[in-house]
Amino acid sequence: MEYKIENGITPEEYNELRNSVGWDSKNKNIIENAIKNSVFAKKVIYNNKIVGMARVIGDGLYYLIVDVVVHSDYQKKGIGKLLIESIVKDIEERTEIGQKCSINLISMKGKEEFYKKCGFRTIPFDYTGYGMTLRIQK
Ligand SMILES: CC(C)(COP(=O)(O)OP(=O)(O)OC[C@H]1O[C@@H](n2cnc3c(N)ncnc32)[C@H](O)[C@@H]1OP(=O)(O)O)[C@@H](O)C(=O)NCCC(=O)NCCS
Repeated sequence: MEYKIENGITPEEYNELRNSVGWDSKNKNIIENAIKNSVFAKKVIYNNKIVGMARVIGDGLYYLIVDVVVHSDYQKKGIGKLLIESIVKDIEERTEIGQKCSINLISMKGKEEFYKKCGFRTIPFDYTGYGMTLRIQK
């Protein structure tokens, strides 16, 4: 049985994966909207079951990888790397010759080595300072 990468995630699948790694469920309407507005919402299927997902939001110049989750029972089998490599390949294909774009992400603490193995480098480097973020909670 092979891992299959497909496009499109349902809110139920999204929350199932989140719950499998101990994260809380998110509101169905918000997830639906987020998935609809994604450049890619990829999932990995194994044995007719969703075992991983990752979303990309972006505009052609900048892309942000979010919601990278591999089901707790299927981690360390190469599924996460498969997803990220598939995303990078798709973005490369969308990028015209002579043009450039950036793929960014915020690693959870302790997951940096995973992203490094997928080809990402930590910031700051060269001319870049730290990445920065502002959270809004209402
Ligand atoms: C982080 C996560 C997506 C990795 O997915 P995965 O399918 O287990 O990772 P892979 O099996 O594809 O690993 C690819 C490589 O990274 C390494 N790796 C994976 N997780 C790692 C970790 N936490 N620390 C160090 N190395 C790690 C693997 O050993 C493997 O190395 P190799 O290519 O030399 O064999 C997964 O553990 C997960 O979903 N965690 C919970 C949710 C989470 O934290 N998501 C990240 C949000 S930023």
